[in-house]
Amino acid sequence: MSHAEAESDHGSTRRDFLYYATAGAAAVTAGAAVWPLVNQMNPSADVQALSSIRVDVSGVEVGTQLTVKYLGKPIFVRRRTQEEIEAARAVPLSDLIDKTSENPNLSPDATAEDQNRTLDEAGEWLVMIGVCTHLGCVPIGNASGDFGGWFCPCHGSHYDTAGRIRKGPAPENLWIPVAEFADETTIKLG
Ligand code: FES
Repeated sequence: MSHAEAESDHGSTRRDFLYYATAGAAAVTAGAAVWPLVNQMNPSADVQALSSIRVDVSGVEVGTQLTVKYLGKPIFVRRRTQEEIEAARAVPLSDLIDKTSENPNLSPDATAEDQNRTLDEAGEWLVMIGVCTHLGCVPIGNASGDFGGWFCPCHGSHYDTAGRIRKGPAPENLWIPVAEFADETTIKLG
């Protein structure tokens, strides 16, 4: 079944579930506003395994982050500033705690190098699973922590502007989900 057919069914088909998380400008400042929409349309477990969602990122300004819920987890979509990109790319791999970021369940392209963690070559769009790799809290964004990225207040893990663990008990970088641009302003997750 094609995506177009799935959409015309309003995502109700169990074979090729697809729905849209539409995020306007308001959702950029209050990411949680998107969640009820996605929750309402929660697929059953067997459908979840096949699902993908599309996220409208047209309202995401440089230096802000949108959070959407996907398969029960928060997903951070950050549009990084030039300073954040440069800071991430200036870090030698030898400075990193988790140098590999290998995880077979996630995007096979994602490694610890900043260039391999972003959706676009310029490095502006960073999409990550917003779950601390220590014990699963949701880190705080908006250039938080000692490395200007994300900070997990539960036990003090600091992530840099590429979401890589730099200090604290978390053992791994924030995970990168399978994601791609479906068009200029839409990111497809899954
Ligand atoms: S859960 Fe994040 S530091 Fe422990």
